[in-house]
Amino acid sequence: MTDNQKWPYLSVQDNTLFFDGCSTVELAEEYGTPLYVFSESDMRGRFAELREDFTQKYPGARVAYAAKAFLNKAMARLVLEEDMCLDVVSGGELFLALNSGFPADRIEFNGNNKSDEELTMAIDAGVGRIIVDGIDELARIEEICYKREQGANILFRITPGVKSSTHDYIVTGKKDSKFGIPLEEEILMPLIRKAIYSAQINFYGFHFHVGSQLFDNQSHLQATDIILQWVDRVHQELGYTVPELNLGGGFGVTYTEEERKPFSYFLDPLMEKINGFYDAHDMRRPAVVIEPGRSIVAEAGMTLYSVGTTKEIPGIRKYAAVDGGMGDNIRPALSQAEYTGVLANRASEPKDDCVTICGKCCESGDILIHDLAMPSPRRGDILAVLSTGAYGYSMASNYNMNPVPGVVFVRKGRSRLVTRRQNYYDLMAREME
Ligand code: LLP
Repeated sequence: MTDNQKWPYLSVQDNTLFFDGCSTVELAEEYGTPLYVFSESDMRGRFAELREDFTQKYPGARVAYAAKAFLNKAMARLVLEEDMCLDVVSGGELFLALNSGFPADRIEFNGNNKSDEELTMAIDAGVGRIIVDGIDELARIEEICYKREQGANILFRITPGVKSSTHDYIVTGKKDSKFGIPLEEEILMPLIRKAIYSAQINFYGFHFHVGSQLFDNQSHLQATDIILQWVDRVHQELGYTVPELNLGGGFGVTYTEEERKPFSYFLDPLMEKINGFYDAHDMRRPAVVIEPGRSIVAEAGMTLYSVGTTKEIPGIRKYAAVDGGMGDNIRPALSQAEYTGVLANRASEPKDDCVTICGKCCESGDILIHDLAMPSPRRGDILAVLSTGAYGYSMASNYNMNPVPGVVFVRKGRSRLVTRRQNYYDLMAREME
């Protein structure tokens, strides 16, 4: 089970599951369950891979970690320590990042419906880039900049109209999408003109994001072909060399079986295409930016639960209920995401039972794992669900008034609590008398 290729910081010692040198059973005892645990070594390893294969290899290349996958103060600081930028999509993410000491000029602000309040906050802070995602957004940014006597560096997010093979809810690059600006001459060209000639705006280039959890580089490559046509058009018609391209995120990870591809599988052919195109047109090569989220944090995170009630429905199924569920991980219920798990305190025992892991929420769809091969579970066992680092904590809810679990970072045998578990007072904190 503990496949070192897929989860390099997992190991089993004395029948116990270890993560980045820490006993997960001791973590459960010390911090309580449910608990999100993140391996710092794993996350830092992903950034190191990106430094080697991208930012240090291609001059001007930048990585803006997509905060929506997982963000807290400790993560913002880790991203900064690793010399990366940050992609935020809301006033809330921006606020947390700024208040964690993240420099505004290293922040890129995405979002398909930014409010005036959010844009003002971003412009006042001086964020590095605003990714314009709608036709009226440019005028709104200009107006805010004018009032606040500030400037703004922008890219246009375009909808490349390419298909990608992933779950329908996380496809974002196809033509019929709420994201991006449609690639129509009469829509995009006037916007580009306006941005280039605006006194307040610095036009940097184009952005796309084709989808999430992708294992095939084709949709990124196709979308790149499409933006390069626009780079050419802007060069020919307006005499302007587009200096920056943002290719979004979407690089797939291992949840159960599928083996992740190295970043270079995506990035090398993309860079070859982009640099080849700019060279052939005798233009100065652009800065290329990517926004990986899931591929940095998914496998670096796990959730520890305590097993409670087990139920065997004769001839049908055996259920084991854990002390969390769809409140801390909505992905199985929302998009049929599949996970695997390990009984952390009995990690070497034969997996001779087949058990469906359900949560404690009042909803039949609150199933975390269907038919997991595992030792027959007992009350009090600790279950580790693997690869929950992306879109678990960040999509957590208080459904049924369950508190959101705390977050612990582990590294080389040491652990530290970085976000405490919510308590019942937190759940009441916004109630009026
Ligand atoms: N950049 C933009 C503009 C995005 O919309 C996204 C994800 C990313 C970057 C990061 O993509 P990643 O590298 O993480 O695939 N909640 C869903 C995933 C939604 C992704 C939305 N956008 C899930 O649980 O699978």
